[in-house]
Amino acid sequence: MTKDGDLSFPDGFVWGAATAAYQIEGHRRADGGGECIWDVFARDGRTLNGDNGDIAADHYHRYPDDHALARNLGFTSFRMSFSWPRISPEGSTRRNQAGFDHYDRVLDSLLENGLTPMVTLYHWDLPQELQERGGWLNRDTAYRFADHAGAVVEHFGDRVPFWITTNEPWSCAFLGHARGLHAPGMRDYHAAGVAAHNLNLAHGFAVPAIRANTRDAQVGVTHCLQVIEPFSDAPDDVEAARTVDGEANGLFLEPLLKGSYPAHMVPYLPCLEDDTVVREGDLECISAPVDFLGLNYYVHEVVRFDRTIPIVHACRMAPLGPLTTIGSGLRPDGLEEILLKPGRDYGCRLPIYVTEVGYLFNDYVNPDGRVNDIARIRYYDEAFRAADRAMKKGVDLRGIYVWTLLDDFEWDSGYSSRYGIVFVEYGTQTRIPKDSAYWLRDVARRNGLSDPPGYRGPAKID
Ligand code: FCB
Repeated sequence: MTKDGDLSFPDGFVWGAATAAYQIEGHRRADGGGECIWDVFARDGRTLNGDNGDIAADHYHRYPDDHALARNLGFTSFRMSFSWPRISPEGSTRRNQAGFDHYDRVLDSLLENGLTPMVTLYHWDLPQELQERGGWLNRDTAYRFADHAGAVVEHFGDRVPFWITTNEPWSCAFLGHARGLHAPGMRDYHAAGVAAHNLNLAHGFAVPAIRANTRDAQVGVTHCLQVIEPFSDAPDDVEAARTVDGEANGLFLEPLLKGSYPAHMVPYLPCLEDDTVVREGDLECISAPVDFLGLNYYVHEVVRFDRTIPIVHACRMAPLGPLTTIGSGLRPDGLEEILLKPGRDYGCRLPIYVTEVGYLFNDYVNPDGRVNDIARIRYYDEAFRAADRAMKKGVDLRGIYVWTLLDDFEWDSGYSSRYGIVFVEYGTQTRIPKDSAYWLRDVARRNGLSDPPGYRGPAKID
């Protein structure tokens, strides 16, 4: 950990914890909830060990205690998602009153705990019925999402000051439709391009639906930007990196911030020029002004030209240096580049929230009952210093949400990846704040950094 002294964040800076419904709630079908694509994907054995969201961290029942824990850990805001099929089991017109009632109670509990809700409307649990009608390959799904968003905001809008339309459309589109790693598990690069556009459109359609139903809430979207470096200066490597950057970042930031798709991506994704996919008026709709930009940061990769890789001819690799237990690069410093990119490359001047940052480590409970996750503390310390550098270069960063409060269902890797700052013993659902949770509590309370490396701070919460 590089230690360059104390560091303070601006007054009013938001420290939050981020979560998502499918990953922590469990009890998917309780109170009339419908099935989603991740239930089916898990049942088909596509997740590690066939893990699924049936029980998860039982947040569906334990949310009052979890909110109290988040408050005691110093957070002032809580990012969560509303499960689409709990509220609208088939994804279309039929509303499930019990789902609305549940989230009414959840919001009340957040507010009682002094936690400002930031709500994501789509964090990947697409109703299975919509998938059966084509899912994100069907433009109609974007209309269904806007209807859903309008109904949700009409009901809850008086209590939620921050709405996020979609979480990480790149992951839904490309991990879900090109790489087959996420639900619905397709492996078709062109399909991913269509899904990307329809997800962008879902955001675009949802913005006016949200605004029509709330007076002063702020509306934004969350993208996972990626730091992509060419392996060498060779023109083929540079071009391969540009393609990956275009896919991961450009395909989402450019339509949002400039109202166009990156022209250099058309040879790889001809659907961008197909007027049955990208219809007249779509880009105006996608680029309608938002109030803030949400950014998630995890990926920093090096890209090398590789003819054997279909279509993009680009091989993604971890950068040199420390790696996580799953072989990805451990590069918290990359948060600076992620924060600078929208302004530098697209002229964006929007307020930004880091809506997720964090990493998985091999956490375990020591015989003394503590989880000494010093590697996570180092990660956060470096990431927050990177965020500070970006702010000093002019980025209007308003807050940081850590991923995540509780160990949870991490999609294709099931329960094997622990990203939480609170350890969950799944057999008993016991919550054990890790050392990083206590360290973060101090960061949030003093709104700054100052602890020495090797922090062994207080292991108690009041
Ligand atoms: C992000 C997702 C989030 C979580 C983290 C680790 O891509 O938005 O739900 O799984 O990765």
